[in-house]
Amino acid sequence: MDKPSQVAAKKPPADSGPPAPGAAAAAASPLGADPAAIEPDDAASSDDAGYESDLASRASTSVCSSVRDYEFENNRRYHRFQEGRYQFPNDDLEQEREDMKHAMVVHLCDGRLHFAPLEDPRRILDVGTGTGIWAIDMGDEYPGAEITGIDLSPIQPQWVPPNVRFMVDDAEADWVIPPDSLDYIHIRHMTSSIRDWPGLLSRAYKALKPGGWIELQDLQFQVKCDDGTVRADNKLQDFFQTMIRALEKFNVDLLAMRHNRQNVLDAGFVDVAETPFKVPVGVWPRDSKMKMIGLYNRSMMLDALHGVAARPFTRGLGWTMEEVEVYLVGVRRDLMDASQHGYTPFHVVVGRKPG
Ligand SMILES: C[S@@+](CC[C@H](N)C(=O)[O-])C[C@H]1O[C@@H](n2cnc3c(N)ncnc32)[C@H](O)[C@@H]1O
Repeated sequence: MDKPSQVAAKKPPADSGPPAPGAAAAAASPLGADPAAIEPDDAASSDDAGYESDLASRASTSVCSSVRDYEFENNRRYHRFQEGRYQFPNDDLEQEREDMKHAMVVHLCDGRLHFAPLEDPRRILDVGTGTGIWAIDMGDEYPGAEITGIDLSPIQPQWVPPNVRFMVDDAEADWVIPPDSLDYIHIRHMTSSIRDWPGLLSRAYKALKPGGWIELQDLQFQVKCDDGTVRADNKLQDFFQTMIRALEKFNVDLLAMRHNRQNVLDAGFVDVAETPFKVPVGVWPRDSKMKMIGLYNRSMMLDALHGVAARPFTRGLGWTMEEVEVYLVGVRRDLMDASQHGYTPFHVVVGRKPG
């Protein structure tokens, strides 16, 4: 049994151009070319007191949905359909965090909701749509398209654009979508969920029209650093490592996204291109855009820690919730330390079904 150590949107432009197909494919790293290093702001203090109020953003509000749709555990709410398939909560606190992550990623991508070169798409599928925020934004951007979001949890809002709809469904079960019927499939932040990526991509390939596009966007849950300031005992890094071990118990590879490009190629897609980004953890960058993105990333992670650790660390690794809480103290401390210039990679992979 593993135990903790003692010590513990802005609107996108209407015509978002694609990256040159295959442009990133030639990079030496399996994850594509390394983006430029982010310049640190020497004035950012190590304790970053000016941002402490972010911690106060974690106030929870009450649950309004029918109890029969959900499971409750350690004061967190989970999906009931296909119970146990997804290890993270679906309550209001988690939904707010997911929406913050959406804002962070769209800002990082300069307002773009997608990188695939879409031309008048008619049928779009969002796999694991979460709060549905991306699908809703796409519905506004493409009024002529029908956007369907599927998820294990019925947590999406009822009042949405007329061309957007949501369905409770398991993306890892057989799809009833007619073959060759979709123009575009979007799969974002699903590396913590999917057990069988080749299986999912083969279903997606079948459902897409010839010429249709697939797009995968994922954070890589590792603390990277370009200037040696992240300490060897960084607790956020340790948290990610622990989460990798915990999710393994549920047959999920948290770092599966490292194989996205190869998996998309193996599924038969062509014009596969990968675009890597760096997402700073905290407010240490000098550049104001990157500083804002780092603030989003850090706030999103602070809000995530309790919820994402609760089930995997207790059910997966056998920890008690008390052990989880003690452990998270050190993780929060390192998250707030702006003298450590850490970032998490983020990768976009697009591919086209031949034809
Ligand atoms: C980290 S959230 C990402 C939400 C959304 N894609 C986004 O980027 O905002 C993962 C979502 O995938 C859903 N999910 C996990 N496994 C799934 C599955 N097998 N089928 C459908 N949805 C799934 C979860 O319920 C959760 O809402």
